[in-house]
Amino acid sequence: MLEGKKIILGISGSIAAYKSAYLVRALKKMKAEVKVVMTDSASEFIGPLTLSTLSENPVYSQFSDKKTGAWTNHVELGLWADLMVVAPASASTLSKMANGHCDNLLIATYLSAKCPVWFAPAMDLDMYKHPTTKENIQKLESFGNICIEPTNGELASGLIGKGRMEEPEVIAQLIEKYFNNQHEFSGKKIIVTAGPTFEAIDPVRFIGNHSSGKMGVAIADEFAERGAEVTLICGPSSIQSNNNKVKRIDVTSAEEMYQAVFASQDTLDVAVMAAAVADYTPVSISSEKVKKKEGDLKVDLKRTKDILKSLGGVKKEGQVLVGFAMETQNELENASKKVKSKNADFIVLNSLREEGAGFKGDTNKVTFVYPNNKTTHFELKSKLDVAKDIADSVKDLLYV
Ligand code: CTP
Repeated sequence: MLEGKKIILGISGSIAAYKSAYLVRALKKMKAEVKVVMTDSASEFIGPLTLSTLSENPVYSQFSDKKTGAWTNHVELGLWADLMVVAPASASTLSKMANGHCDNLLIATYLSAKCPVWFAPAMDLDMYKHPTTKENIQKLESFGNICIEPTNGELASGLIGKGRMEEPEVIAQLIEKYFNNQHEFSGKKIIVTAGPTFEAIDPVRFIGNHSSGKMGVAIADEFAERGAEVTLICGPSSIQSNNNKVKRIDVTSAEEMYQAVFASQDTLDVAVMAAAVADYTPVSISSEKVKKKEGDLKVDLKRTKDILKSLGGVKKEGQVLVGFAMETQNELENASKKVKSKNADFIVLNSLREEGAGFKGDTNKVTFVYPNNKTTHFELKSKLDVAKDIADSVKDLLYV
Protein backbone atom coordinates (compact mmCIF):
# COMPACT_ATOMS: atom_id res chain seq x y z
CA MET A 1 0.00 0.00 0.00
CA LEU A 2 1.06 3.57 -0.62
CA GLU A 3 -0.89 5.44 2.06
CA GLY A 4 0.40 8.97 2.55
CA LYS A 5 2.71 8.77 -0.48
CA LYS A 6 2.56 11.66 -2.92
CA ILE A 7 3.33 10.82 -6.51
CA ILE A 8 3.67 13.04 -9.55
CA LEU A 9 2.95 11.25 -12.78
CA GLY A 10 4.55 13.00 -15.75
CA ILE A 11 2.99 11.99 -19.07
CA SER A 12 4.66 12.76 -22.38
CA GLY A 13 3.52 12.28 -25.96
CA SER A 14 3.43 8.62 -26.89
CA ILE A 15 0.72 6.18 -27.81
CA ALA A 16 1.53 4.50 -24.48
CA ALA A 17 -0.02 7.57 -22.79
CA TYR A 18 -3.32 5.67 -22.71
CA LYS A 19 -1.66 3.27 -20.23
CA SER A 20 -1.13 6.20 -17.84
CA ALA A 21 -4.83 6.07 -16.97
CA TYR A 22 -4.31 2.51 -15.72
CA LEU A 23 -1.21 3.62 -13.82
CA VAL A 24 -3.17 6.38 -12.06
CA ARG A 25 -5.86 3.86 -11.19
CA ALA A 26 -3.35 1.30 -9.87
CA LEU A 27 -1.59 3.93 -7.72
CA LYS A 28 -4.91 5.24 -6.39
CA LYS A 29 -5.97 1.69 -5.52
CA MET A 30 -2.79 1.48 -3.45
CA LYS A 31 -3.98 4.66 -1.69
CA ALA A 32 -1.31 7.01 -3.10
CA GLU A 33 -2.09 10.65 -3.76
CA VAL A 34 -1.45 11.33 -7.44
CA LYS A 35 -1.01 14.57 -9.37
CA VAL A 36 -0.59 14.48 -13.12
CA VAL A 37 1.62 16.79 -15.18
CA MET A 38 1.31 16.29 -18.92
CA THR A 39 2.83 17.76 -22.05
CA ASP A 40 0.68 19.21 -24.83
CA SER A 41 1.40 16.29 -27.09
CA ALA A 42 0.41 13.82 -24.34
CA SER A 43 -3.03 15.42 -24.30
CA GLU A 44 -3.40 14.43 -27.97
CA PHE A 45 -3.24 10.81 -26.86
CA ILE A 46 -5.30 10.98 -23.66
CA GLY A 47 -7.66 13.60 -22.33
CA PRO A 48 -6.88 15.54 -19.14
CA LEU A 49 -10.47 14.95 -17.97
CA THR A 50 -9.87 11.19 -17.78
CA LEU A 51 -6.75 11.74 -15.71
CA SER A 52 -8.21 14.38 -13.40
CA THR A 53 -11.23 12.14 -12.77
CA LEU A 54 -9.07 9.12 -11.96
CA SER A 55 -6.50 11.05 -9.90
CA GLU A 56 -9.12 13.22 -8.16
CA ASN A 57 -6.80 16.16 -8.67
CA PRO A 58 -6.46 18.89 -11.30
CA VAL A 59 -4.16 18.00 -14.19
CA TYR A 60 -1.31 20.42 -14.84
CA SER A 61 0.05 21.18 -18.29
CA GLN A 62 0.59 24.93 -18.67
CA PHE A 63 2.77 27.43 -16.83
CA SER A 64 -0.28 29.63 -16.39
CA ASP A 65 -4.03 29.46 -16.86
CA LYS A 66 -4.83 31.60 -19.93
CA LYS A 67 -8.29 32.56 -18.58
CA THR A 68 -7.47 33.48 -14.99
CA GLY A 69 -3.80 34.29 -15.44
CA ALA A 70 -3.05 32.05 -12.43
CA TRP A 71 0.50 30.68 -12.39
CA THR A 72 1.16 26.97 -11.87
CA ASN A 73 3.81 26.69 -9.19
CA HIS A 74 6.01 23.92 -10.58
CA VAL A 75 8.51 24.37 -7.74
CA GLU A 76 5.83 23.67 -5.17
CA LEU A 77 4.67 20.70 -7.21
CA GLY A 78 8.23 19.34 -7.43
CA LEU A 79 8.75 19.72 -3.70
CA TRP A 80 5.35 18.22 -2.84
CA ALA A 81 6.15 14.81 -4.29
CA ASP A 82 7.73 11.77 -2.61
CA LEU A 83 8.37 10.35 -6.07
CA MET A 84 8.04 11.51 -9.63
CA VAL A 85 7.50 8.97 -12.39
CA VAL A 86 7.53 9.97 -16.03
CA ALA A 87 5.51 7.33 -17.86
CA PRO A 88 5.53 7.19 -20.78
CA ALA A 89 8.83 9.00 -21.32
CA SER A 90 9.13 9.74 -25.05
CA ALA A 91 12.51 10.13 -26.76
CA SER A 92 11.98 13.88 -26.84
CA THR A 93 11.12 14.13 -23.13
CA LEU A 94 14.12 11.95 -22.21
CA SER A 95 16.35 14.29 -24.16
CA LYS A 96 14.83 17.37 -22.54
CA MET A 97 15.20 15.85 -19.07
CA ALA A 98 18.82 14.83 -19.72
CA ASN A 99 19.76 18.25 -21.04
CA GLY A 100 17.63 20.58 -18.92
CA HIS A 101 15.71 21.81 -21.96
CA CYS A 102 12.93 23.43 -19.98
CA ASP A 103 10.21 24.32 -22.48
CA ASN A 104 7.19 22.78 -20.74
CA LEU A 105 5.75 22.34 -17.28
CA LEU A 106 6.70 18.66 -17.06
CA ILE A 107 10.41 19.48 -17.48
CA ALA A 108 10.17 22.47 -15.09
CA THR A 109 8.61 20.16 -12.49
CA TYR A 110 11.31 17.55 -13.13
CA LEU A 111 14.05 20.14 -12.64
CA SER A 112 12.43 21.35 -9.40
CA ALA A 113 11.81 17.89 -7.96
CA LYS A 114 13.95 16.96 -4.96
CA CYS A 115 12.46 13.47 -4.75
CA PRO A 116 13.60 10.33 -6.61
CA VAL A 117 12.66 10.40 -10.28
CA TRP A 118 11.78 7.35 -12.35
CA PHE A 119 11.11 7.22 -16.03
CA ALA A 120 9.55 4.56 -18.25
CA PRO A 121 10.68 4.95 -21.87
CA ALA A 122 8.19 4.18 -24.64
CA MET A 123 9.16 4.47 -28.28
CA ASP A 124 9.81 2.59 -31.46
CA LEU A 125 12.63 0.02 -31.30
CA ASP A 126 15.05 1.92 -33.53
CA MET A 127 14.50 5.14 -31.60
CA TYR A 128 15.18 3.22 -28.40
CA LYS A 129 18.33 1.67 -29.87
CA HIS A 130 19.66 4.99 -31.16
CA PRO A 131 22.92 6.10 -29.48
CA THR A 132 21.34 9.46 -28.60
CA THR A 133 18.57 7.77 -26.62
CA LYS A 134 21.06 5.44 -24.95
CA GLU A 135 23.24 8.40 -24.03
CA ASN A 136 20.29 10.35 -22.60
CA ILE A 137 19.21 7.36 -20.50
CA GLN A 138 22.75 6.90 -19.23
CA LYS A 139 22.95 10.59 -18.40
CA LEU A 140 19.68 10.44 -16.46
CA GLU A 141 20.90 7.34 -14.61
CA SER A 142 24.10 9.17 -13.73
CA PHE A 143 21.86 11.81 -12.05
CA GLY A 144 20.41 8.96 -9.97
CA ASN A 145 17.13 8.75 -11.93
CA ILE A 146 15.80 5.24 -12.31
CA CYS A 147 14.94 3.78 -15.70
CA ILE A 148 12.05 1.33 -15.85
CA GLU A 149 13.19 -0.59 -18.88
CA PRO A 150 10.76 -1.02 -21.75
CA THR A 151 9.71 -4.52 -22.67
CA ASN A 152 9.84 -6.45 -25.93
CA GLY A 153 6.74 -6.86 -28.03
CA GLU A 154 4.61 -5.47 -30.79
CA LEU A 155 4.98 -1.72 -31.14
CA ALA A 156 2.54 0.85 -32.47
CA SER A 157 4.48 0.90 -35.75
CA GLY A 158 3.74 -2.79 -36.22
CA LEU A 159 7.41 -3.62 -35.70
CA ILE A 160 8.39 -6.05 -33.00
CA GLY A 161 11.15 -5.24 -30.54
CA LYS A 162 12.14 -3.44 -27.35
CA GLY A 163 10.31 -0.18 -26.75
CA ARG A 164 6.96 -0.99 -25.15
CA MET A 165 6.38 0.89 -21.92
CA GLU A 166 6.35 -1.46 -18.94
CA GLU A 167 2.82 -2.43 -17.90
CA PRO A 168 1.17 0.06 -15.49
CA GLU A 169 0.48 -2.62 -12.85
CA VAL A 170 4.17 -3.59 -12.86
CA ILE A 171 5.25 0.05 -12.50
CA ALA A 172 2.83 0.51 -9.58
CA GLN A 173 4.20 -2.64 -7.91
CA LEU A 174 7.80 -1.44 -8.37
CA ILE A 175 6.85 1.86 -6.74
CA GLU A 176 5.20 0.04 -3.84
CA LYS A 177 8.27 -2.17 -3.41
CA TYR A 178 10.50 0.89 -3.47
CA PHE A 179 8.62 2.56 -0.62
CA ASN A 180 8.53 -0.70 1.37
CA ASN A 181 12.29 -1.10 0.89
CA GLN A 182 12.94 2.35 2.28
CA HIS A 183 12.81 0.93 5.77
CA GLU A 184 14.76 -2.26 5.08
CA PHE A 185 17.98 -1.05 6.68
CA SER A 186 16.61 1.63 8.98
CA GLY A 187 18.70 1.98 12.12
CA LYS A 188 21.63 0.14 10.51
CA LYS A 189 25.03 1.81 10.36
CA ILE A 190 26.87 1.04 7.15
CA ILE A 191 30.32 2.04 5.95
CA VAL A 192 31.22 1.87 2.29
CA THR A 193 34.73 2.55 1.01
CA ALA A 194 35.14 3.65 -2.58
CA GLY A 195 37.63 4.91 -5.13
CA PRO A 196 41.41 4.54 -5.24
CA THR A 197 43.94 5.62 -2.67
CA PHE A 198 46.87 7.84 -3.58
CA GLU A 199 50.16 7.14 -1.84
CA ALA A 200 52.43 10.17 -1.93
CA ILE A 201 56.03 9.85 -3.11
CA ASP A 202 56.74 13.58 -2.83
CA PRO A 203 54.58 16.76 -2.82
CA VAL A 204 53.68 16.31 -6.51
CA ARG A 205 53.73 12.55 -7.22
CA PHE A 206 51.82 9.58 -5.98
CA ILE A 207 51.16 5.89 -6.60
CA GLY A 208 47.49 5.32 -7.48
CA ASN A 209 45.20 3.13 -9.55
CA HIS A 210 42.35 3.40 -12.05
CA SER A 211 39.41 2.95 -9.67
CA SER A 212 36.73 5.56 -10.45
CA GLY A 213 34.65 5.19 -7.29
CA LYS A 214 31.45 4.54 -9.31
CA MET A 215 30.75 1.11 -7.82
CA GLY A 216 31.25 2.20 -4.22
CA VAL A 217 29.18 5.37 -4.61
CA ALA A 218 26.34 3.33 -6.17
CA ILE A 219 26.45 0.94 -3.19
CA ALA A 220 26.38 3.80 -0.68
CA ASP A 221 23.39 5.35 -2.48
CA GLU A 222 21.53 2.04 -2.59
CA PHE A 223 21.85 1.42 1.15
CA ALA A 224 20.86 5.02 1.93
CA GLU A 225 17.86 4.63 -0.38
CA ARG A 226 16.80 1.65 1.72
CA GLY A 227 16.98 3.56 4.97
CA ALA A 228 20.50 2.84 6.29
CA GLU A 229 22.73 5.41 7.96
CA VAL A 230 25.56 5.40 5.43
CA THR A 231 29.07 6.76 5.68
CA LEU A 232 30.95 6.77 2.40
CA ILE A 233 34.71 6.87 2.89
CA CYS A 234 36.03 7.83 -0.48
CA GLY A 235 39.49 8.08 -1.96
CA PRO A 236 40.19 10.72 -4.62
CA SER A 237 37.18 10.54 -6.96
CA SER A 238 35.00 13.08 -8.73
CA ILE A 239 31.94 10.78 -8.61
CA GLN A 240 29.21 12.35 -6.51
CA SER A 241 26.55 10.60 -4.49
CA ASN A 242 22.97 11.10 -5.64
CA ASN A 243 21.57 10.67 -2.17
CA ASN A 244 21.99 13.59 0.19
CA LYS A 245 21.56 11.28 3.19
CA VAL A 246 24.98 9.71 2.50
CA LYS A 247 27.64 11.16 4.79
CA ARG A 248 30.86 11.43 2.83
CA ILE A 249 34.37 11.49 4.24
CA ASP A 250 37.06 12.21 1.64
CA VAL A 251 40.45 10.66 2.23
CA THR A 252 43.61 10.34 0.17
CA SER A 253 45.85 7.54 1.43
CA ALA A 254 45.30 3.98 2.65
CA GLU A 255 46.29 5.05 6.15
CA GLU A 256 43.67 7.85 6.17
CA MET A 257 41.05 5.40 4.91
CA TYR A 258 42.00 2.94 7.66
CA GLN A 259 41.70 5.66 10.35
CA ALA A 260 38.31 6.83 9.02
CA VAL A 261 36.92 3.28 8.94
CA PHE A 262 38.17 2.40 12.41
CA ALA A 263 36.77 5.61 13.91
CA SER A 264 33.33 3.98 13.71
CA GLN A 265 34.17 0.27 13.62
CA ASP A 266 32.66 -0.30 17.03
CA THR A 267 29.09 0.64 16.18
CA LEU A 268 29.11 -0.78 12.68
CA ASP A 269 26.49 -3.17 11.32
CA VAL A 270 27.80 -3.55 7.78
CA ALA A 271 31.03 -2.66 5.97
CA VAL A 272 31.33 -2.89 2.20
CA MET A 273 34.93 -2.38 1.13
CA ALA A 274 34.70 -1.41 -2.52
CA ALA A 275 37.80 0.79 -2.50
CA ALA A 276 40.86 -0.23 -4.46
CA VAL A 277 43.23 0.36 -1.55
CA ALA A 278 46.94 0.50 -2.34
CA ASP A 279 48.71 -2.55 -0.93
CA TYR A 280 52.02 -0.67 -0.76
CA THR A 281 53.02 2.86 0.14
CA PRO A 282 56.41 4.60 0.00
CA VAL A 283 58.53 3.97 3.11
CA SER A 284 59.11 7.69 3.36
CA ILE A 285 57.62 10.73 1.64
CA SER A 286 60.12 13.25 0.39
CA SER A 287 59.22 16.71 1.70
CA GLU A 288 60.64 18.27 -1.47
CA LYS A 289 60.00 17.34 -5.09
CA VAL A 290 62.37 14.54 -6.10
CA LYS A 291 64.61 15.89 -8.86
CA LYS A 292 65.60 13.64 -11.74
CA LYS A 293 69.15 12.34 -11.93
CA GLU A 294 71.12 10.11 -14.27
CA GLY A 295 70.19 6.42 -13.94
CA ASP A 296 67.18 4.65 -12.43
CA LEU A 297 65.17 5.72 -9.41
CA LYS A 298 64.29 3.25 -6.68
CA VAL A 299 61.29 3.90 -4.43
CA ASP A 300 61.14 1.67 -1.36
CA LEU A 301 57.64 0.54 -0.53
CA LYS A 302 56.09 -0.94 2.59
CA ARG A 303 52.79 -2.74 3.07
CA THR A 304 49.72 -0.71 3.99
CA LYS A 305 47.30 -1.91 6.65
CA ASP A 306 44.67 -4.22 5.18
CA ILE A 307 41.46 -2.50 6.28
CA LEU A 308 39.10 -5.36 5.44
CA LYS A 309 41.32 -7.95 7.10
CA SER A 310 41.65 -5.75 10.19
CA LEU A 311 37.85 -5.42 10.37
CA GLY A 312 37.59 -9.19 9.94
CA GLY A 313 39.99 -9.65 12.85
CA VAL A 314 37.73 -7.78 15.26
CA LYS A 315 34.41 -8.72 13.69
CA LYS A 316 31.51 -8.73 16.10
CA GLU A 317 28.58 -11.10 16.20
CA GLY A 318 26.02 -9.97 13.64
CA GLN A 319 28.33 -7.63 11.70
CA VAL A 320 28.43 -8.20 7.95
CA LEU A 321 31.66 -7.61 6.03
CA VAL A 322 31.80 -7.51 2.25
CA GLY A 323 35.00 -7.28 0.25
CA PHE A 324 35.84 -6.88 -3.42
CA ALA A 325 38.36 -8.70 -5.53
CA MET A 326 39.54 -7.62 -8.92
CA GLU A 327 41.40 -10.52 -10.46
CA THR A 328 43.00 -11.25 -13.80
CA GLN A 329 43.60 -15.00 -13.41
CA ASN A 330 42.50 -17.94 -11.19
CA GLU A 331 39.64 -15.67 -10.22
CA LEU A 332 37.46 -18.03 -8.16
CA GLU A 333 40.39 -19.65 -6.40
CA ASN A 334 41.89 -16.28 -5.40
CA ALA A 335 38.54 -14.83 -4.29
CA SER A 336 37.83 -17.94 -2.27
CA LYS A 337 41.17 -17.60 -0.45
CA LYS A 338 40.51 -13.89 0.14
CA VAL A 339 37.04 -14.31 1.66
CA LYS A 340 38.44 -16.76 4.22
CA SER A 341 41.71 -15.00 5.01
CA LYS A 342 39.90 -11.69 5.56
CA ASN A 343 36.99 -13.21 7.52
CA ALA A 344 34.50 -11.56 5.15
CA ASP A 345 30.91 -12.75 4.65
CA PHE A 346 31.30 -12.62 0.91
CA ILE A 347 33.57 -11.23 -1.77
CA VAL A 348 32.30 -9.46 -4.86
CA LEU A 349 34.57 -10.84 -7.54
CA ASN A 350 35.07 -9.10 -10.84
CA SER A 351 37.50 -10.14 -13.49
CA LEU A 352 39.34 -7.78 -15.78
CA ARG A 353 39.00 -10.51 -18.40
CA GLU A 354 35.22 -9.99 -18.55
CA GLU A 355 34.03 -7.45 -21.09
CA GLY A 356 32.05 -4.64 -19.46
CA ALA A 357 33.51 -5.32 -15.99
CA GLY A 358 36.10 -3.27 -14.22
CA PHE A 359 37.07 0.17 -13.11
CA LYS A 360 35.77 2.98 -15.24
CA GLY A 361 32.59 1.86 -17.00
CA ASP A 362 28.99 1.97 -15.87
CA THR A 363 28.56 -1.80 -15.94
CA ASN A 364 29.97 -4.74 -14.04
CA LYS A 365 29.79 -8.52 -14.15
CA VAL A 366 30.31 -10.04 -10.75
CA THR A 367 30.26 -13.27 -8.81
CA PHE A 368 29.63 -13.41 -5.08
CA VAL A 369 32.02 -15.83 -3.39
CA TYR A 370 31.16 -17.09 0.11
CA PRO A 371 33.46 -18.72 2.71
CA ASN A 372 31.71 -22.10 2.25
CA ASN A 373 32.75 -21.97 -1.43
CA LYS A 374 29.19 -21.18 -2.52
CA THR A 375 29.16 -18.84 -5.51
CA THR A 376 26.43 -16.75 -7.14
CA HIS A 377 27.06 -15.61 -10.70
CA PHE A 378 25.35 -12.53 -12.12
CA GLU A 379 24.86 -11.28 -15.67
CA LEU A 380 26.51 -8.13 -16.97
CA LYS A 381 24.46 -5.25 -15.55
CA SER A 382 24.69 -1.61 -14.56
CA LYS A 383 26.69 -0.80 -11.44
CA LEU A 384 23.43 0.55 -9.96
CA ASP A 385 21.88 -2.91 -10.36
CA VAL A 386 24.99 -4.64 -8.98
CA ALA A 387 24.60 -2.37 -5.93
CA LYS A 388 21.03 -3.66 -5.54
CA ASP A 389 22.24 -7.29 -5.66
CA ILE A 390 24.84 -6.53 -3.00
CA ALA A 391 22.25 -4.86 -0.75
CA ASP A 392 19.87 -7.82 -1.21
CA SER A 393 22.57 -10.31 -0.20
CA VAL A 394 23.62 -8.20 2.79
CA LYS A 395 19.98 -8.11 3.88
CA ASP A 396 19.80 -11.91 3.77
CA LEU A 397 22.89 -12.16 6.00
CA LEU A 398 21.86 -9.39 8.36
CA TYR A 399 18.41 -10.66 9.13
CA VAL A 400 19.01 -14.40 9.38
N1 CTP B 1 41.51 -3.94 1.00
C1 CTP B 1 41.58 -3.25 2.17
N2 CTP B 1 42.78 -2.72 2.59
C2 CTP B 1 43.88 -2.89 1.86
C3 CTP B 1 43.82 -3.60 0.67
C4 CTP B 1 42.61 -4.11 0.26
O1 CTP B 1 40.56 -3.07 2.83
N3 CTP B 1 45.02 -2.37 2.28
C5 CTP B 1 40.21 -4.50 0.60
C6 CTP B 1 39.66 -3.91 -0.65
O2 CTP B 1 38.84 -2.78 -0.39
C7 CTP B 1 38.87 -5.07 -1.22
C8 CTP B 1 39.71 -6.26 -0.84
O3 CTP B 1 40.41 -5.88 0.33
O4 CTP B 1 37.61 -5.20 -0.60
C9 CTP B 1 40.68 -6.59 -1.94
O5 CTP B 1 41.54 -7.56 -1.47
P1 CTP B 1 43.11 -7.57 -1.78
O6 CTP B 1 43.62 -8.80 -1.20
O7 CTP B 1 43.82 -6.40 -1.30
O8 CTP B 1 43.11 -7.54 -3.29
P2 CTP B 1 44.24 -7.00 -4.14
O9 CTP B 1 44.61 -5.62 -3.76
O10 CTP B 1 43.82 -7.19 -5.53
O11 CTP B 1 45.43 -7.93 -3.65
P3 CTP B 1 46.15 -9.19 -4.30
O12 CTP B 1 47.40 -8.63 -4.78
O13 CTP B 1 46.30 -10.11 -3.16
O14 CTP B 1 45.24 -9.73 -5.34
